[in-house]
Amino acid sequence: MDALGKIYNVVSIVTINSNGTLNGITVAWITRVSIKPPMIAISIGKQRYSYELLENIDKFGVCILSKEQKDLAKLFGSKSGRNVNKFENVDFELTKNGIPKIKNIVAFFECKIVNKADAGDHVIYIGEVINQEILKTDTPLLYGEHKLM
Ligand SMILES: Cc1cc2nc3c(=O)[nH]c(=O)nc-3n(C[C@H](O)[C@H](O)[C@H](O)COP(=O)(O)O)c2cc1C
Repeated sequence: MDALGKIYNVVSIVTINSNGTLNGITVAWITRVSIKPPMIAISIGKQRYSYELLENIDKFGVCILSKEQKDLAKLFGSKSGRNVNKFENVDFELTKNGIPKIKNIVAFFECKIVNKADAGDHVIYIGEVINQEILKTDTPLLYGEHKLM
């Protein structure tokens, strides 16, 4: 393991609705970057299908997973929406903005993309949080040392 593996992150599923095409991607590289207004940043690989979709939309959702939701992290983090509908057997609803919100998660935000930055093989999207809610008090799922914990 390299030293960067010692950076522990909360695991989320970033959800997307691009003109009716729904997708979600497991993301560990996510962090808060501003208090006023509240903003977060996510880092998305340029080879991901989600990158193609994010380039054409102005909003995305963030579903913070609980420790019991490793299977969801693996589902959305091992398959590509290019080949499968990852939402097929997942319990979710669409928000007023049409963004998928997975049921039974710890917390949910909706973000408006306000900026982006090139970062090697990834692109960082900065999102202003326009809606947020806590759904349950469980401890979030973590990713560190190259594994879910
Ligand atoms: C725990 C975990 C964390 C991940 N974190 C990220 C991340 O921060 N950014 C990213 O681009 N991919 C990340 N991935 C990989 C994507 O989730 C994976 O490549 C996914 O299948 C891409 O789906 P898509 O092609 O539908 O966009 C992660 C995967 C796992 C399992």
